[in-house]
Parts: sequence; structure tokens; C-alpha cells
Amino acid sequence: EEEVGTMIFGVVKSPLLLEVWLSRMDGHMGLANSLAMKIAGIDKNTNDPVGGTIVRTTEREPTGLLVDAAMKLVFNVIPEVSVNDRREALLTASRHALMRGVTTVVDVGSYVPGTSEEQTWQDFSDVYEWAHSMGKMMIRVCLFFPMPTWPRVSDLIHERGRSLSGWIHLGGVKAFLDGSLGSSSAWFYEPYEDVPGDYGLQLLDMDVLLNATLESDKSGLQVAIHAIGDKANDMLLDMFDKVVSLNGTKDRRFRIEHAQHLSPGAATRFGEHGIIASVQPDHLLDDADSAGRKIGVERAERSSYLFRSLLAGGAHLAFGSDWPVSDIYPLQAIRTAMSRKLPGWEAPWISAERLPLDDSLKAHTISAAYACFLDHVLGSLVEGKYADFVVLPSTSWREFADDIPGHVLATYVNGKQAYP
Ligand SMILES: *[C@@H]1O[C@H](CO)[C@@H](O)[C@H](O)[C@H]1NC(C)=O
Ligand SMILES: *[C@@H]1O[C@H](CO)[C@@H](O)[C@H](O)[C@H]1NC(C)=O
Repeated sequence: EEEVGTMIFGVVKSPLLLEVWLSRMDGHMGLANSLAMKIAGIDKNTNDPVGGTIVRTTEREPTGLLVDAAMKLVFNVIPEVSVNDRREALLTASRHALMRGVTTVVDVGSYVPGTSEEQTWQDFSDVYEWAHSMGKMMIRVCLFFPMPTWPRVSDLIHERGRSLSGWIHLGGVKAFLDGSLGSSSAWFYEPYEDVPGDYGLQLLDMDVLLNATLESDKSGLQVAIHAIGDKANDMLLDMFDKVVSLNGTKDRRFRIEHAQHLSPGAATRFGEHGIIASVQPDHLLDDADSAGRKIGVERAERSSYLFRSLLAGGAHLAFGSDWPVSDIYPLQAIRTAMSRKLPGWEAPWISAERLPLDDSLKAHTISAAYACFLDHVLGSLVEGKYADFVVLPSTSWREFADDIPGHVLATYVNGKQAYP
């Protein structure tokens, strides 16, 4: 199927046969071939795990498509990536980020629904602590850990502080309430147009999520929760209301990751409790074309990527890439937020939600820093903050906006040239 996978996640060679697992670019769905399914023990008698779907034929035979938590069945049998490969991946990814003019990232860990919470912690000790102690950090990171492990994050911060140094900052915890639009697992009030009767997936029980949020919040951790569908976003906004009423007002900077489709009026609710809409303009490039097919044109046009409405409602709007889901490239994301046009499109998608340059720049700099409690040291060039900046070919956006690639001439971190 055309929408499935662009990335080979794990291929195991044997003399005659290949197990193949293709992961969809958003990490919410994957396709296993028959041998991989056999090794994972998936057949018509396997039940859907909680928070996941094994896509089946009318005869209940699995098709090979696994959605959200169902991917766990295959992840269990994929060999682990070696420590050396993971370390090398951090260095390669850091160089790639610098080339694109990125000096700080929020890393929410390798945890996606269906994977082990432990991997993120192993990456912290094997990869980040290694790079840090060896003086190999090239970009700054703010780390979020899987929410069920909040007591460990809290202990770690007590022991080591919020910043291990200028390079590694401990942010808080992350959870997923629903899946994605592309995998038809984002949680909506109304069913998908192309899958009648299907409203998407609720990945967590609201009482469990409220409990973990209250506990995390009480221990001073920042909470970031993934919500894409309009229902998932409303459920989170309601839940955050409850946390504030139970635990009082304070500077918590709750993050809703993606806030992609909002019900009427929801955009104005973010401002009430200073909630951060952590959005990714370049996801729009993947969804603008298919959203109408998935949820209908009317619903798509009133609910999708409401950047301007969010800002107007007082939300803190922070841009990011969700890399590797979309490309890590702030200049391109800024252009997308301003134009809302796919390559080759004449008209913008939902033109009223386009942003001016100034708002887009802020969303990718100072607001992104604010969204991880780092605005006191990052996000603008003022005395007392780190000298992290890029050199562009012109001070006029118009002069290079039509031809973005290759336009980061140099990237500086801590006042030192880090790229090229
Ligand atoms: C969360 O659940 C645990 C275990 O049931 C309970 O002990 C704790 O009091 C709950 N916390 C909150 C804030 O409700
Ligand atoms: C937050 O809620 C928890 C659990 O209900 C409670 O133990 C704690 O005292 C509250 N904190 C504040 C600041 O109200």
C-alpha cells in the first residue's frame, strides 16, 4: 500500500529467507512479511493487544499491518541495535542537525507505543552519558522519558540537577494518548471516512493518565502528551483542567505534542492554563493531501494545524520537526507555516491559518526554548544566553525563501563554529 513505510527498521538475513519489517514514517504502524509474522507468532488466533490493532482480512487472517501497540509483537523478536551503532547514530544525527541550523533538540526517547520503556533509559546511560563524559556532545538536548518511569526521572533530577551541563537538560516525561492520522489511529469524535465505524485508538485509560500526570506534576516534572485527533486533544485539555484544579496554579508548561486536529473552540483553551502546543509544520506536507480523504474535507479544513487560531487564543506555539518523522529543517518548517503549500500547489491549505514570518521565527526559537524551560539560556541572542546561532545568506527572507536547501552557511554553538 502506497502509504506504508519508507524506512527499513530491521531486516534479518538467513541463507534462503528474509524477515522484513517496514515501519511507517510516523512510527505508529508497520508491515511485517509472512516470515516475520510467523517468527513473532502472529496468526488468526492472536488477539489485539490493548492499544493496538492487528489489521485483518474478512477471514480474520492478519494482513501483516500492525498498528500502535500491536507492533510490540514484532519488536519483541527484532535483535537489539548495538551500543556502538547507537553512539554512532547520535554523532551522525548531531552533525545532520547542525548542517540544518539546529543547535538544541528535545529528545523524547525511542519510546513509541509498543516498545520497551527501558530503551530510552539505556540510551541515556549508554549513549548520552558516554558522549557527555567523552566531550562528544555537539548539540544541546532536553530529554523526556516515558511517563510510567516518572519516579526514576524525579530521582535522577534530585541527584544530578536539571542540567548535567550546558549540553544535557532533563526535561520531564512523555506519554501517548492516541496514534496518528496517517495510520488511522488518531482518536476522533467522528469516524474515519475511509474506515467506517473506526474512531481511532485511545492508547491510555484517562484515570491512569490523570494519576501519572498528577504524580509527575507533584514531583515537579514537565509533562508532554501526544494528541493528534480532536477527541484526544479535548480529553487532554479536560485532564489538564483537573490537574490545575487539584494541584493549583503554577508554571508547569504542559505540552500537547502535535495538537493536530482541534474541535471548535479548543484552540482558545490552550491559553487558559498556558499550555504549549508543540506542533510540526512540516507534518502538514504529509497530511494536506490525504486529510480530506481520511476525515472529510469539511472536518479537515476546520480542524487541522490551527497555528494562527492557537496563537490568537493565547497558546504558546512551539515548532519542531518530530524528526525523523519529518525532515529536521527549521527554515523549511518556517516556510511551510507561512505558505501552507505543498510543492506544486497553487493555493495554500486553509489559508487563514498561515503565519507571518515573525510569529514563525519565534515559534522555532524563543517559544521552542520556553516549551522546555530553557528560555533563560536559549532562544534569543541576548547577553547572558549561549551564543548559538546560524549564518544565513541574506537578512531578507524573500531573497532565499524560494530556494531553501543549502542556505545555512554556518552554525555556531557556544560561540564556536560547529558547521561546516
Ligand atoms: C495514583 O495511584 C496510586 C496507586 O493506585 C495511588 O497510590 C496514588 O495515590 C495515586 N495518586 C494520585 C495523585 O491519585
Ligand atoms: C497535588 O495533588 C496531589 C495528589 O492529589 C497532592 O498530594 C498534592 O499535595 C497536590 N499538590 C499541590 C501543590 O496542591
